Amino acid sequence: MDFSNEKITLVQPDDWHLHLRDGHILNAVLASTARVFRRAIIMPNLLPPVTTVEAAIKYRRRILAAIPEGISFTPLMTIYLTDDLSPDVIELGHKEGVFFGAKLYPANSTTNSADGVTDLQAITPLLETMERIGLPLLIHGEVTDPDVDIFDREAIFIEQKLIPLLSRHSSLKVVLEHITTEQAVQFVETCSSNLAATITPHHLHFNRNAMFDGGLRSDFYCLPVAKRERHRIALRKAATSGKSCFFLGTDSAPHLRSYKESSCGCAGIFNASVALESYAEVFDEEGVLDRLEAFSSIFGPDFYGLPINKNSITLEKRPRVVPDFLEVRKADNSVEKILQFHAGETLNWSIASN
Ligand code: DOR
Ligand code: ZN
Repeated sequence: MDFSNEKITLVQPDDWHLHLRDGHILNAVLASTARVFRRAIIMPNLLPPVTTVEAAIKYRRRILAAIPEGISFTPLMTIYLTDDLSPDVIELGHKEGVFFGAKLYPANSTTNSADGVTDLQAITPLLETMERIGLPLLIHGEVTDPDVDIFDREAIFIEQKLIPLLSRHSSLKVVLEHITTEQAVQFVETCSSNLAATITPHHLHFNRNAMFDGGLRSDFYCLPVAKRERHRIALRKAATSGKSCFFLGTDSAPHLRSYKESSCGCAGIFNASVALESYAEVFDEEGVLDRLEAFSSIFGPDFYGLPINKNSITLEKRPRVVPDFLEVRKADNSVEKILQFHAGETLNWSIASN
């Protein structure tokens, strides 16, 4: 890594947790990711979700077709686990090099998760297959019991679901995605090398107050929801700690403005257009920019057993104001908008043009 106060050159990063959607949204958002990240794990929560090898192959094709000319980008596909999925599908998709991981959404935990898993015990045969073939399990770690306070759902998931799951499947490779609590940080860092966590840029930047700042602000609503300040501080410490069990996963989750600005606004923050710059801001503020490369470009491939990327990317200290919106052109040529994370704010770090 090449490093000064004004410039930093990193091994090209990967995004280990990304929502690209489909159709006109996919076409509008993909360039934001591919301009920076060499590979990304693609979430399968489409409507209908990606639950077959064929659906994953077709979705991968649509993603590849949307990559801008001259850019190298590899989508790493996932399968969406359901109660009645056959272990044979997992095995086939893995054997054919289609599935890179399997995503566990507890049913009704988040966007498009209605077909998710209702009972973790019931998918034991799926998890045993994954353990045997070495397919990682990517977890949305929240309980869905409406009696559990929404701010406690991650911590309770760890206690009630994750700990028993890990003891039943001790060789399973598991990533607890988009962690939001000090309990998750403490749990992941004291665990085995089979467990890691991704951390989003947004959970490093704001706490739950942002959702209620001057009114109800769905722009800051994502799942798991941002927690108290002490949790944000724990996440910042974890991300910048240099510990290999924490690595980059943006959870960039685009929703059209009309779906966010609604009486029942969707969960998700579109951050792909500023993600690396946003992480850089955090590492700079914490005085450990020299640790950004490991978090963004080394720990992820190491955990997943992939080579680190050969190319590099340079960030320079060049403040810029983040535009409010990304425009999405629909099939009928009308234009909709997606709000960008950090809209209207000034970020100090920018990607240098080569
Ligand atoms: O905020 C979120 N948005 N969290 C998720 O788990 C899903 C995502 C989405 O797909 O919109
Ligand atoms: Zn996600």
